[in-house]
Amino acid sequence: EVVDATGLVALPGFVDLHTHLREPGREDAETIDTGSASAALGGYTAVFAMANTDPVADNAVLVEHVWRRGREVGLVDVHPVGAVTVGLAGERLAELGGMARSAARVRMFSDDGVCVDDPLLMRRALEYSSALGAVIAQHAEEPRLTVGAQAHEGERAALLGLAGWPAAAEESIVARDCLLAHRTGGRLHVCHVSTAGTVEVLRWAAGPLAALPSQAPGGRPGRVSAEVTPHHLLLTDERLTTYDPVNKVNPPLRTEADTLALRAALADGVIDCVATDHAPHAPQDKDCEWAAARPGMLGLETALSVVVETMVNTGLLDWRGVARVMSERPAELVGLPDHGRPIAVGEPASLVLIDPAAHWTVRGAESASLADNTPFEGMRLPARVVATMLRGRFTARDGKVLRWIDSC
Ligand code: DOR
Ligand code: ZN
Ligand code: ZN
Repeated sequence: EVVDATGLVALPGFVDLHTHLREPGREDAETIDTGSASAALGGYTAVFAMANTDPVADNAVLVEHVWRRGREVGLVDVHPVGAVTVGLAGERLAELGGMARSAARVRMFSDDGVCVDDPLLMRRALEYSSALGAVIAQHAEEPRLTVGAQAHEGERAALLGLAGWPAAAEESIVARDCLLAHRTGGRLHVCHVSTAGTVEVLRWAAGPLAALPSQAPGGRPGRVSAEVTPHHLLLTDERLTTYDPVNKVNPPLRTEADTLALRAALADGVIDCVATDHAPHAPQDKDCEWAAARPGMLGLETALSVVVETMVNTGLLDWRGVARVMSERPAELVGLPDHGRPIAVGEPASLVLIDPAAHWTVRGAESASLADNTPFEGMRLPARVVATMLRGRFTARDGKVLRWIDSC
């Protein structure tokens, strides 16, 4: 089969370290099947399925189930993330070793949807992570600072009468976790960085903190990585005027100064990669009043275009840089050997073909996701995924998902 790629950009398939697929438990919002289809359309060849399912993915049986279902669907490599704790906001360390050694080969563990605020638990998880060669990903939020919080703390929230969510709720936990990672020799991944202050904490962790001796066996240094979402790169709390719950997300949309700091940090490598935090929700959980709505936004099908809009069209990244933050770096952070690097001769390719000159208008109803809670509804965005290929087979082409059955 010959593909005319004149004028197109070819990149290694995208790797999303942060996707919510909702299976098991909320198959009315998304399934592994529909989420995989959405990922293929977005140019992804690997996604990491977050652990805050129902039940929570805190054991080998459940992560193997998610992994197997991903293989059956076959549109994208679904890597289950294991919960650090047992159950939702659990207090015991989960069976990390069992999950790492299971068929799913879990390489990333995370909170279960609620921040691991207990420092002792976080410290033990980080110690364990280095022994397993796995990464601990953390939703950084000091819960005692976000009680009742509904939007970024600032003028906008005050004007709307919404309780404010302080930047320091994120920054204080990130600082603590960087210290714990460094001192234990652990491997920390900071999820969805949203404030300029967190960027400064990450700079400090990579510089002055890393120069202090580690207290880990053999003086082994810790390692910290970080991700930013497309929505935190583009959107601000200015959008909240309409009380439309589509703009409700955790962490909240911040200020323009924050978006600019996040973009600069992604460009200079202080933030390693883009991760979507694709968070599909059923209509009844979004088509309601602000206070009752669940936080979260779709992201898989719009991520590339938002990165082009905020990073390429602003001159902050070239296409090489897009490959770095969407494919190479995330694959490297979790040790995916067959993703995010140039294709060797004779090897079945996992790649994405992009039309850099195209524009398109986002319509949530047209998404392959079961949900339609995109905050980019009606926006005209640059760049379009023309085709996605997983190990030599097209999984999406010209906006259509291609399943095994279609290509046989
Ligand atoms: O907005 C969010 N939605 N933030 C989270 O941390 C969880 C996610 C979800 O699961 O819906
Ligand atoms: Zn989170
Ligand atoms: Zn999330």
